[in-house]
Amino acid sequence: MNDFPVDQVDSVVTPWNVSGVVDYDKLIEQFGSQKIDPQLLKKFESLTGRPLHPFLRRGIFFSHRDLQEILQLYENGTKFYLYTGRGPSSDALHLGHMIPFLFTQYLQEAFQVPCVIQLTDDEKFLFSKDNSKKLEDYQRLGWENAKDILAVGLDCERTFIFRDTDYIGTMYPNILKIQKAVTYNQARAIFGFDDSDNIGKHGFPAVQAAPSFSSSFPQLFGPQNNLPCLIPCAIDQDPYFRMTRDVAPKLGYRKPALIHSKFFPALQGENTKMSASMAHTAIYVSDSAKQLKTKVNKYAFSGGGATIEEHKKYGGNCDIDVAYKYLSFFLEDDEQLEKIRQEYSSGKMLTGEIKAKLIQVLQPFLEQHQQRRSQVTDEMIRKVMTPRKLSF
Ligand code: TRP
Repeated sequence: MNDFPVDQVDSVVTPWNVSGVVDYDKLIEQFGSQKIDPQLLKKFESLTGRPLHPFLRRGIFFSHRDLQEILQLYENGTKFYLYTGRGPSSDALHLGHMIPFLFTQYLQEAFQVPCVIQLTDDEKFLFSKDNSKKLEDYQRLGWENAKDILAVGLDCERTFIFRDTDYIGTMYPNILKIQKAVTYNQARAIFGFDDSDNIGKHGFPAVQAAPSFSSSFPQLFGPQNNLPCLIPCAIDQDPYFRMTRDVAPKLGYRKPALIHSKFFPALQGENTKMSASMAHTAIYVSDSAKQLKTKVNKYAFSGGGATIEEHKKYGGNCDIDVAYKYLSFFLEDDEQLEKIRQEYSSGKMLTGEIKAKLIQVLQPFLEQHQQRRSQVTDEMIRKVMTPRKLSF
């Protein structure tokens, strides 16, 4: 099996750039991952004994690698750990950043498993074109972001959050083994680095790969050093883990399993990814009720008709309507969502009304998040960032 597909797709999907019209079925084919099928969803339900998360019911997490295997191991009594991460690039997270963490929290609770979260302050420092930001700035952002991450309700007894610049030492043996197993040519083919890219970028993928191997966390997992790992992430992170899965057997380690999400679109429209570097494209978890309202009303791309008459006659297009898209991520009630879809598509519900509905759903979400975040203290962050035995 070739774990290094280098074929070009019509759209661009790399860890640093998502553009064009993303065809998710095609992406599965190009990347060589698997579609999450109804049978797998059933397995999820029966193993967790709880209803499927809306992200699963609605195909937002849609692709995987070896999910079947990891669930099978779980069923037979071998627990896995979760690994996800974030590159700290902004003070607050936006809604798109929240998706993997919300989902990770659900997985942690449903399976009662430990979780490690990597804050790649090193990555953001090496890859940023903004030279006004210092390494220390990314370290600070990492610390701040940890508060938003913890506020999704992760279980502190089972969670370890780390910044690479603090924790790198313990992972270093695995980083070295990975670096030795990947050639310069392979790294360039996977990540598209060129001659003018700094040398730190070339070495970095091994740093993101290392947490996939439980032996990178001796203080957390003790002598159990080949635990299965499941990585929830947006599909643009897959190149890192194709590389990881390719080197794993060479190092005598298990390949990590993956569960991939689709992208959360920017306010400007479907087929774009929310970007932290453009404030008006994103709703931040720190936005006030007023900012939320303004952003949705002013910027959310509408799939509605050009005039009310046209809209009533032809209806709205939910496939491209951002308010509808966001509702499909954040409105949990399936019946309500379906009702909105029908009414908006038929033209009965107007653009202003679907936007009002979205504001009504997001406002309490943001409020609750801000409330929880305000309760996360520096002391709590210090604690979750301390390597210690995690409860299994
Ligand atoms: N590279 C990711 C980003 O820029 C951060 C990250 C590190 C990550 N490790 C991960 C994301 C594991 C998902 C899973 O945001």
